Amino acid sequence: MNRLHGRDHELRRAAEVLAGTRRSGGTGLLTVEGAPGIGKSTFLRAVAALARQQGYRVGSGSAEESSRMLPLTTLLSALRSGPEPLLSEGDFAELGGLYDRQPWLVERLADALAVPAAHGPVLVLLDDVQWSDQLSVVALRVVLGRLARQPVCWVLAGRPDPGGALDRVAGAARHLVTVSRLTLGPLDADAVEGLAREELGGEPDPALRRLLARAGGHPLLVSSLLAGWRPGPGGTDPAPAAAGAALPHQLILAVRHQLSTLPPGAVELLRTGSVLGRRFTLADVSEVTRQPAARLMAPLEEAVRAGLLHEDGDGVAFRHDLVRQAVHDDLPVSLRAAVHRDIAAVMTRQRRPAAHVAPHVLGQWPRSGAVAATPEERRAAADVLRAAAGEIARATPAAAADLLQRALDLLPPDSPERLDVGLEALTAAAAGLQVEAAAELGRTLLRGTTTAGDAARVWWHLARPLRALSADEELQRGTAQALAALPPGDDAASAPARLRLRAVHAQASSRGPDGAAAAEEARGVLQDALRLEDTAAAEAALVALAEAAAWQGRHHEALVPAREARLRHGGPPRSAEIAALTGLERYDEARALLAEAAEVHRSDAWETLPEHAWRRALLELYAGRTSLAQVEAEHLLRLGEDFEEFALYRAEAHCVLARIVGTRGDTATGRRHVEAARALLAPRNVWQRLTLHVVDGRLAEGAGDDRAAVAAFSRALDLRREHALLGAGPDYDSAPQIVRVALRAGAPALAEDAAANAAGYAERNPGVPGIQGIALHARALVDGDVDRLGEAVRVLATGPRVPVHSVAAGDLAALLAVARRRAEAVEAWRRASAALAAWGASTVIVDPRALALRPRDGRAEPAGGTRPVSGWGALTGAERRVAERAGRGGTNRSIAEELGVSPHTVSTHLRAVFGKLGINSRVQLAHVVATRPDAGELTRSRP
Ligand SMILES: Nc1ncnc2c1ncn2[C@@H]1O[C@H](COP(=O)(O)OP(=O)(O)OP(=O)(O)O)[C@@H](O)[C@H]1O
Ligand SMILES: [Mg+2]
Repeated sequence: MNRLHGRDHELRRAAEVLAGTRRSGGTGLLTVEGAPGIGKSTFLRAVAALARQQGYRVGSGSAEESSRMLPLTTLLSALRSGPEPLLSEGDFAELGGLYDRQPWLVERLADALAVPAAHGPVLVLLDDVQWSDQLSVVALRVVLGRLARQPVCWVLAGRPDPGGALDRVAGAARHLVTVSRLTLGPLDADAVEGLAREELGGEPDPALRRLLARAGGHPLLVSSLLAGWRPGPGGTDPAPAAAGAALPHQLILAVRHQLSTLPPGAVELLRTGSVLGRRFTLADVSEVTRQPAARLMAPLEEAVRAGLLHEDGDGVAFRHDLVRQAVHDDLPVSLRAAVHRDIAAVMTRQRRPAAHVAPHVLGQWPRSGAVAATPEERRAAADVLRAAAGEIARATPAAAADLLQRALDLLPPDSPERLDVGLEALTAAAAGLQVEAAAELGRTLLRGTTTAGDAARVWWHLARPLRALSADEELQRGTAQALAALPPGDDAASAPARLRLRAVHAQASSRGPDGAAAAEEARGVLQDALRLEDTAAAEAALVALAEAAAWQGRHHEALVPAREARLRHGGPPRSAEIAALTGLERYDEARALLAEAAEVHRSDAWETLPEHAWRRALLELYAGRTSLAQVEAEHLLRLGEDFEEFALYRAEAHCVLARIVGTRGDTATGRRHVEAARALLAPRNVWQRLTLHVVDGRLAEGAGDDRAAVAAFSRALDLRREHALLGAGPDYDSAPQIVRVALRAGAPALAEDAAANAAGYAERNPGVPGIQGIALHARALVDGDVDRLGEAVRVLATGPRVPVHSVAAGDLAALLAVARRRAEAVEAWRRASAALAAWGASTVIVDPRALALRPRDGRAEPAGGTRPVSGWGALTGAERRVAERAGRGGTNRSIAEELGVSPHTVSTHLRAVFGKLGINSRVQLAHVVATRPDAGELTRSRP
């Protein structure tokens, strides 16, 4: 192993990162990129030594090409390396138990690594990340973020790989930690000279100097040339390569030259070893080549003497992986495949895990180039890949799907297993939430099917990904055609296929105008499924029933089949049931189910994790626990960023966040979330689009742009009509707001529409206080009916929805004030403010124009000089005028218009008001305005 030559500048950069991490006590990330053999691993060793000098605890590991399929090996190899590993044995064992539950595993990993970091700075070095397994990359991105404030320094090295692991980790970490990037280039002439002197133990002679000059500062090539160089009269030019030839080629030539000087036994050893991997054991070579190990000793010594291999623990290793690769790539393809086949056979005999055998199976069948093989051989190879996929499917379904796809490619076109393997691949892809890929695979499989029964099977599996993509129409059409293609009559073969097709057809029709027909169909399917004892079809039918009812906005009706699905079939709580309970405002029951689901996630089915985080966020938003909702939505967003599979849910997370920050009056952030959601939106997802229109409207209203608000709300309602969507949606909740804006902006038809929608929803959901109260509220605003509004408030008070209750109470106060029912108005106003403050929203809903109160202009100010410095009495006349209007919900713009000053002046006054009153939000201001000592005079000054 060489001492480090050159690289002064790069080492200084690394030293800065280490010192920075130690000083700031926060994470630093350094990436080291460079061509194969340029000296990344050598550099990393120097960084590790430097870090130890600085008091760091160091863990280092590297990814290996052959272990790409083994989840988390890359990261764990680093955390368990060395005499004093960063992860304790206990932690390691615990993590093993979480192997196939990614999110928890990753959380625990972060916790475990925080332990050594609490005692001092920690450095984790990961080499060859271009080969890291998928789960390690995911874990790295997450753990880096989680430990952002711990003194943990990460150094990751890898070959250039645009969009590869290094880029993905650095990209994700960019916002969280300081990222420094280094690219290693060739060594300078001095470093090359130093390297040569060290290797030779003396001065290089002129011939060697000339040769070294041609290595272009590439250290591996330099050291390979030196290794093959025999000083003295026999010294030949070992690399007669044209100057400028590609480096790997030159290296192959250099290695080939070295091989040509070795006896055949050593060459065979090296060749077999090159297929086994960078490190291998003589026992393996002996098994594969069917030679006694004793006979390998002399060849081994030759190879070591030539500097190609060195001893490594209880095995041997190539001096460098590129040397191994050079030997490997120089093997004739057919020979290489034969060695891979022998190795695979030996490993299978030894019952090694299929995931270890799989690379050698793949090695026999390069992706490109037809390989002559019997169908039997292909089938056997595909079997190994299927087994390997089975081993890793739970931990990394996406990687399993890749393997299955390769197995599919291997199978001869006419082999009967094709459909099975294809469906396994589709299922794995869907479980990894790669729904696009799963759908595409299903479509391809469909084209290859020859019988109606096979097509029916494909449609059955396609239901999940296509519905996740909101491609209900495609599914509906396809299953209808497949049903028509089934032979008539219910013989033993076609009856089950027909049943499942009908189940999928019912599901596909449930979210749309044919809801009633879909429900009818689903009921039929359910009966037949129970008779035929097809539990999966029965469950699909129950889900279809629940979803049809949900689309119709009938929550009671949706709850029954959703609950039955769980009770009858077990497993984690279904989303449909949680959605129904949420719709019915039975939040505690929904929360309990979500908690139960979380327990199940720990052991299974983590792919429903984001869906449930989203449901929890919505639920808490309705219940008015806004900060909890925000935590959930942010968690969801993070999940979507950390786990590619969950990216689907990022749009939902942004929608929820936009609604939350909208209620706080933070229009700018709200808009950012809307934009982000819109960019990620699934175009066919009606619910998402509806939500965005409503959020748009509310943000426009908050910004004082009533016309834009009306336009956005109208779009939402049109969308509902177009898709016959009667299910829950944010426009129902916002019906009173829509009515108010519509009336203000002179759009009575929209007001009428919104109120009618809310009334219809209420009719379909008797006994649900929030839904009933909102409908009453909206109607009361349309009719200006204060008593009906009073009833709305009373109904809402019996339910758990704090936000809608407080908004209604606020409106009631306003209407009462207009009706000059002063005492009641003040009482309602007080309650509204208290509820609002508890809820944490900062928009005050009451519009001063609705209050129809005139400012108490001309009221005498306290005599000069005696005005207190804080409290209401400290305000100047102008400040009071602004405070009163703002406290009753005026926007800066509307107040400016009303008082005939600029919005800038208004905000200046407001700042002063906040300072004198010692408050920092409009909610607090509303409270002060409503409860100040002279509040009783609210209406007295009316002209
Ligand atoms: N700065 C250096 N000083 C001395 N020797 C070096 C230096 N850099 C690299 N080498 C030598 O060059 C060879 C290749 O370097 P190294 O293994 O570090 O490359 P790498 O970039 O990690 O390659 P790979 O991409 O294959 O992992 C090593 O055998 C090492 O001895
Ligand atoms: Mg390396």
